[in-house]
Amino acid sequence: DKGGYPHFMLKEINEQGAVLRRSMLDRIFHGEVDLSRELSWSSESAKRIKRLHLVACGTSYYAALVAERLIERFSDLDIRVDIASEYRYRDIPIGNDTLAVFVTQSGETLDTLAAERFAKEKGARCMAITNNGLSTVAREVDDVLSLKAGPEIGVAATKTFMGQMTVLYLMGLYLLKLREELSLGDEMRLVREMEVLPYKVESLIDRADEIKAIASRYCEARDFLFLGRGFSFPIAMEGALKLKEISYIHAEAYAAGEMKHGPIALLDRSVPVVVVMPDDNLFEKTLSNVQETKARNSPVIAIATEGRKSILGQAEDVMWVPKTDMELNPFLAVIPLQIFAYYVALAKGKEIDQPRNLAKSVTVE
Ligand code: M6R
Repeated sequence: DKGGYPHFMLKEINEQGAVLRRSMLDRIFHGEVDLSRELSWSSESAKRIKRLHLVACGTSYYAALVAERLIERFSDLDIRVDIASEYRYRDIPIGNDTLAVFVTQSGETLDTLAAERFAKEKGARCMAITNNGLSTVAREVDDVLSLKAGPEIGVAATKTFMGQMTVLYLMGLYLLKLREELSLGDEMRLVREMEVLPYKVESLIDRADEIKAIASRYCEARDFLFLGRGFSFPIAMEGALKLKEISYIHAEAYAAGEMKHGPIALLDRSVPVVVVMPDDNLFEKTLSNVQETKARNSPVIAIATEGRKSILGQAEDVMWVPKTDMELNPFLAVIPLQIFAYYVALAKGKEIDQPRNLAKSVTVE
């Protein structure tokens, strides 16, 4: 049931405030994360972990990349994030000092399942973050955290990405806390702001018409570049994937600093560049990439924090996002990109919920 929406994807985009609330429910108490009802971790077992591996495919992989950036800020864990189909063919140290977290909406992705079996075989403690607690991956691991996002029907993942980032953040904060690597001040700052995110997400969705108008101006483009640094790099990748999947437009994402190492050769007035640049410690660096882009006549569509007026003279179009803490920018910055992909695909008359060549869960290698 599409609940009155023309497509499941739009319905699911609209559910993201509720998904955030549900994913946090019974996991936060008085401003502190507590997952002891769901995980049997102790402070001792958490401190014995030396390596943290986050393994996934597609959008789930991008959620893992966002979480890596949070956890590494506070921890001396050896963290790596891998694409599931690569992980098991590499010779990387995995052992009983490894916590391997498999992020999979469906819990049935064969690449992720095979990676999980590989890590288990090598003695890692395995955990699943999934929207299906009854799935194959969920049944095989030591620990499961469920997204509670509700069924996602649109092939393009939207609300489950939001749920994955939320649960990965809670898992990361809880692990850091048990390892005594996170101060109470940082924990409470992040948790308080996470509790406000649903309202900010909803306020963004209420302004979807502004994004629709921008989408109508760019839907004829053949190629797009997406750029971002730090926490915004995985969001640039997710924005490009959403656009490719449902509109079939060629979209590539780069770390903004990499543009001058090659992709800048592609730029001219026919290639719009989406720059994910909410306020953070790297804003000025990304701004210099915007200037390089403009010098090649490419139109810039910036995702920027409300109030950052200086961007107006630099970008052709701006998708504004509310202010939040640097670590939480991804939760807001992804919303306009999902809406943008939706309206570009709609303008092109594409099959939004079931794009060609794609299946909701990929059960072949
Ligand atoms: O069910 P999973 O999270 O394991 O699926 C992983 C990818 O196949 C999935 O995220 C895919 O990239 C989506 N179509 C993204 O919109």
